[in-house]
Amino acid sequence: MKPTALKGRSLLNWKDWTPEEIRFLLELSHSVKKDTRTGDIHQRFRGKTLALLFEKRSTRTRCAFETSFGEEGGHPVFLSTQDIQLGSKESIEDTARVLGRMFSAIEFRGFEQETVEILARESKIPVYNGLTDTFHPTQVLADIMTLEESFGKSEGKKLCYVGDGRNNVARSLIIICAKLGVNCTMITPPGLSTDTALLDETSIWARDSGATIQITDSIEAVEGADALYTDVWVSMGEEKKRNERLAQLTPYQITAQLMKKTGNDNTVFLHCLPAIKGEEVTKEVIEGPQSRVWDQAENRKHTIKAIMLATI
Ligand code: CP
Ligand code: NVA
Repeated sequence: MKPTALKGRSLLNWKDWTPEEIRFLLELSHSVKKDTRTGDIHQRFRGKTLALLFEKRSTRTRCAFETSFGEEGGHPVFLSTQDIQLGSKESIEDTARVLGRMFSAIEFRGFEQETVEILARESKIPVYNGLTDTFHPTQVLADIMTLEESFGKSEGKKLCYVGDGRNNVARSLIIICAKLGVNCTMITPPGLSTDTALLDETSIWARDSGATIQITDSIEAVEGADALYTDVWVSMGEEKKRNERLAQLTPYQITAQLMKKTGNDNTVFLHCLPAIKGEEVTKEVIEGPQSRVWDQAENRKHTIKAIMLATI
């Protein structure tokens, strides 16, 4: 693939990205990380500007975009929806048209997937989904990168996601795994499994890549897992459902015992963070030797830089 092939592209979810394009971003992410370690300094975003739109809170995503863009000489501008007209006085379409005239790219974190899609359509510049209720695509690129660092490759590895299968992280993970040939087991309680429409789409990509996608409510399915992955039980915007989620998900907590149940001493623990220790994962596991969550958080920065380098 030509290095310029992805210029101008938006990342709204991984559905319209080919395995080859995603692999290109992964290779670039590994090389960006190597550069950071050797202290190589580049100014590849000099003269460029990035709008960072946030309707929801963020630590990692905001910092990854802001630091990676700024340290390459670009100018990131943080715009919370408390500060700008979006959503109150001005439509998404009009906001997109204005930002498209002033910025090189836009990142959006918020509620509706439709908002990020309108931003991309109307601004005519690259737009990145920094998390919506439906997808969290930049997160899962870092997750696959972390898997590759742990095992040398991701293809053919068994990743078990244990928790809320309908949320943004779960829905993005299943797509990227299916595209890249990572065997993905979704272990979710009844009522919280990934929607069938997405599973139907996923099965086509899995057939092409050779990935096995398994959906189950049985915790026994962790057997042989290379990675156990979980996310918070209550996603942003769903706070009112807290009691219901706790009741559904308590049997699915990641404990040391569950890590052992994989029968694999090398199983790693992954979490997109922020984590609520004592809910979806015990303190012992997240702070234990099998946890890779801090590498995973760091990799958000390298992958996000790679996405922007490829598309701006
Ligand atoms: N994982 C993740 O998206 O973290 P933030 O909510 O802190 O950005
Ligand atoms: N599913 C979580 C992910 C946080 C990064 C949420 O949406 O709150």
